[in-house]
Amino acid sequence: MATPANLDVIDRCSSDQIDSPFCRDVLAGLSQHQKAVPARWFYDFAGSELFEEITQVPEYYPTRTEVALLKAHSGDVAGMIGEGRAVVEFGSGSSLKTPLLLQAVKPSAYVPIDISGEFLRQANADLGDAMPDLSIFPVEADFTKPVALPADLEGEEMLGFFPGSTIGNLPPFAATDLLRSMRDTLGRGSWLLIGIDRVKPVDRLLAAYDDAQGVTARFNLNLLRRINRELGADVPVHRFKHCARWNASASRIEMHLEALKDISFHVADRLFFMREGETIHTENSHKYTEESARLLLNAGGWAPQCVWSDGRSDFFLILAEASDLPIAP
Ligand code: AVJ
Repeated sequence: MATPANLDVIDRCSSDQIDSPFCRDVLAGLSQHQKAVPARWFYDFAGSELFEEITQVPEYYPTRTEVALLKAHSGDVAGMIGEGRAVVEFGSGSSLKTPLLLQAVKPSAYVPIDISGEFLRQANADLGDAMPDLSIFPVEADFTKPVALPADLEGEEMLGFFPGSTIGNLPPFAATDLLRSMRDTLGRGSWLLIGIDRVKPVDRLLAAYDDAQGVTARFNLNLLRRINRELGADVPVHRFKHCARWNASASRIEMHLEALKDISFHVADRLFFMREGETIHTENSHKYTEESARLLLNAGGWAPQCVWSDGRSDFFLILAEASDLPIAP
């Protein structure tokens, strides 16, 4: 029997695809004057594996530098805040960084918060194997809004942990909101240990986001493959190229996907056009100086108490204390 021509269309716009948050974000983003897709959609299974690969390429310094800073200073963190706090990690734990901190601060409990239950379960299984005595309370939630922590943690003092320079994905106004939400989640008397990437010579920044092996390019292009896989789209992936740009006025690296020719494609049965040279903006990675990092944290309700960096001045590890709103003088 011949396949009816419209079966293809039905397939492309099945209602649960259109209703999914991913589909909504992609359709809305591609409808903008500057086309854009939020960076959080990079991380399907293939994207998460490609990100792991990025952390191994020689040009991508943030991960190895932050790991070295945690090795050097987790003991200092314990000295500042004392042992026995509950550690609340925003995002599911990284197999490398989280144990370094937990071994030093001897937490009463570990509370990873992630929007993806699947990533949470994976990270916990790994950590539970490595630290069998640790009490783990996973919370499946969107931590960009204040999160209610498990009742078992009532009265505990908290240490928030937000590594990876993930804060850099957000423009400062949204980063400030996120920091304030974290403060609401963790409460008075809490601390935050956060990784923030530094401003540095542009050639090194561009190399870190456009490595010679092309891993970052594959990571960026995987977003188009994911759109094709999950949204029944027909984006011509080979007609795009990865590009990384330094936006000096916003102090950030931007990743884009640039059309190599005039093209058209469908997503969920909607038709999109792109001109040669037009781009889809896929990620921002804001970079900070010591002054701008301090200001950002202060604006978000956190007072920096220790600022650690590495010998190349590549990355900050900052320990900050929740600010109290004083009675106005
Ligand atoms: C995971 C958001 C910190 O911005 O450096 C790496 C993601 N993108 N290479 C970053 C990323 C391209 C990364 N963060």
